[in-house]
Amino acid sequence: MDAKTPDPKSPDLNSGTLAVGDKSWSFPVLHGSIGPSVLDISKLYGQTGMFTYDPGFTSTAACESKITYIDGDEGVLLYRGYPIEQLAMNGDFLETCYLLLYGELPTPAQKTDFDYRVTRHTMVHEQMARFYQGFRRDAHPMAVMVGCVGALSAFYHDSIDISDPHQRMVASIRMIAKMPTIAAMAYKYTIGQPFIYPKNDLDYSSNFLRMCFAVPAEDYKVNPILAKAMDRIFILHADHEQNASTSTVRLAGSSGANPFACIAAGIACLWGPAHGGANEAALKMLGEIGHVSRIPEYIKRAKDKNDPFRLMGFGHRVYKNYDPRAKIMQQTCHEVLRELGIKHDPLLDVAMELERIALSDDYFIEKKLYPNIDFYSGITLKAMGFSTSMFTVLFALARTVGWIAQWKEMIEDPQQKIGRPRQIYSGAPRRDYVAIAKRR
Ligand code: SDX
Repeated sequence: MDAKTPDPKSPDLNSGTLAVGDKSWSFPVLHGSIGPSVLDISKLYGQTGMFTYDPGFTSTAACESKITYIDGDEGVLLYRGYPIEQLAMNGDFLETCYLLLYGELPTPAQKTDFDYRVTRHTMVHEQMARFYQGFRRDAHPMAVMVGCVGALSAFYHDSIDISDPHQRMVASIRMIAKMPTIAAMAYKYTIGQPFIYPKNDLDYSSNFLRMCFAVPAEDYKVNPILAKAMDRIFILHADHEQNASTSTVRLAGSSGANPFACIAAGIACLWGPAHGGANEAALKMLGEIGHVSRIPEYIKRAKDKNDPFRLMGFGHRVYKNYDPRAKIMQQTCHEVLRELGIKHDPLLDVAMELERIALSDDYFIEKKLYPNIDFYSGITLKAMGFSTSMFTVLFALARTVGWIAQWKEMIEDPQQKIGRPRQIYSGAPRRDYVAIAKRR
């Protein structure tokens, strides 16, 4: 990895000084290609005997990466330097997967080869199908995903040696290829329908829609508009810098755990309503609001410090401007509703009015709360026929390539070491054991 220190002609930008009491220490400043510089404090504890304290990592760069860049103030998202808007409107999801994994857009030959390799890994070991039988039919599909993806290392022993570059790439291809199959099987299992095998003559997103919505009793024709919308939704969700689930995958991978186990950890973290679970929570919230006349009541609750209610699908740790993905998500939402002939969706009415009111409300303006990617995705996915409980599964399916790319980058970083944060301790100082007979 090669974060650069600035031009020696400007020495004042090469280091920072920390002073505590009558002591001071100097630390190097590292500059990336774009975005904020970092104060390299890796030697701080050794020099000062102190730790930094940053719960939630609001000001902490945990790693150096070349994969994704976000400018939260400008509402910019770049995958390997390419704006998300351009990738989402011009390419397909497997092109984005190639870009995130290898760092460059594929040539036509590279794209054909990559598509071929992914397509021919879409089936799962037949024994996996029996693994699903252990779940209750009403299990949340995310519970099934965590279990089944974590179990993959029990089936694919030839791609878990993380020190072997070939095995790392085979595991990466397998994860990208098999997630749609595993996700579709989780969906079919929870609705009591038979699993549908992948078909190699379909593109990635068409294959996924067919595995979800086809039944053996009749032919199924994939709607190309919906397949394109699905593919674009996958692109929007593919990676997002060091978010909570990606950081989970990196931390799990830093111990040398196999890639399937690391991805399962990422799925578990993504499930939370503050993260990937927000798309399911946002649709439930819109349903609970029910009508535009009730929006003021919920806006009031969202602003009440004593009320834990938050507007799901609003706000973001990094974006203090409109999430660029949300704009494309909203456009895709309208395209899908139009294609499906849904002239009027009450939830969309509530969402559009809620967005209008929130964006003109001082509280949301002052706290820079804008709709994020999860605000419109739920309406779109519901219209496409997915149950609400499948929304975060689709997020996990798409984010798998980002998790894998970030995991691979970490494993291949020569400076990589096990992640092991410290703490500030405020518990009881040392004290001696008291026999129970002497306790009052
Ligand atoms: C994703 O990190 C990523 O990149 C994630 C993601 C990705 O692609 O991986 O982009 C995907 O997770 C998108 C976010 C989905 N989550 C939601 O939509 C849930 C609702 N949003 C909030 O929970 C919240 O905005 C977070 C969790 C997203 C961000 O939380 P932060 O950055 O920790 O901000 P905060 O909770 O400290 O809030 C700052 C202030 C607070 O008020 P004060 O304490 O300063 O007075 O803003 C308020 C919060 O109360 N606030 C909200 C709010 N979000 C923040 N108030 C009402 N409604 C909200 N949605």
